[in-house]
Amino acid sequence: MPQDNPTDARRLSSSKLSVLRKHPIFSDLDSEALDQLCRYAKHTVLRRGATIFSKGDPGNCLYAVILGTVKISLSSPDGRNAILNLVGPGELFGEMSVLDGQERSADATANTNCEIYVIDRRDFLPFVRSQPALSMKFIELLCNRLRWTTDQVEQVILQDLPGRLASALLGLAEKRKLEPERHTIAITQQEISEMVGMTRESINKQLRAWAARNWVRLEHGAIVVLDAVSLRELAEAGTRADE
Ligand code: CMP
Repeated sequence: MPQDNPTDARRLSSSKLSVLRKHPIFSDLDSEALDQLCRYAKHTVLRRGATIFSKGDPGNCLYAVILGTVKISLSSPDGRNAILNLVGPGELFGEMSVLDGQERSADATANTNCEIYVIDRRDFLPFVRSQPALSMKFIELLCNRLRWTTDQVEQVILQDLPGRLASALLGLAEKRKLEPERHTIAITQQEISEMVGMTRESINKQLRAWAARNWVRLEHGAIVVLDAVSLRELAEAGTRADE
């Protein structure tokens, strides 16, 4: 991000402050700590498809999404992909290897054009140590990651196709509860098939059956949840509703 003159730099820094002040993880920091974080956070713009890091890389930075979506995924040598998560505005990623010093556990790719803040591990670790309340936020974040992963294991092992798909859609919609367009999930059918581990054809057939019941609306590159109650009942029962 260019900072050609002091006015640009000041504008950037005040918009950074207002974004970080509203960020769910950083919002409780006092103004001095927020100012410090602003100095550490580097604003970066990414084009759709850009690789942010790959599994096995060293964890040098923490990332906060401001705009757009980042895909967290794994791939096999024969070219198959599994999407672990889609990370949107207000969420962080890359915290695991920053905190434990091990390698990146998955790939991160810009799924849309994105704006993110990048914070260097060498700045971040001393900062977290100086802010006990922030450590608690990170414990909550890691608990959330584990719950998300537990839900995925439950879906794959214990739920049938409709239950898995319903759970995945509700999980994605739930993460967007603070956004006005929270019922609209920007995801392609190919991506959702990589997320729930089912073929694109079965996903398409199931979604069309739900669209006919007005449970969802299918848009180009997005799925709108219209009837979360019916989807939740299905997810909890895990029974078939594709006929
Ligand atoms: P890190 O291991 O540094 O790099 C990959 C990131 O993806 C990881 O930190 C987390 O932020 C995120 N991540 C890894 N595994 C999962 C998962 N199962 N569900 C959601 N996010 C994950």
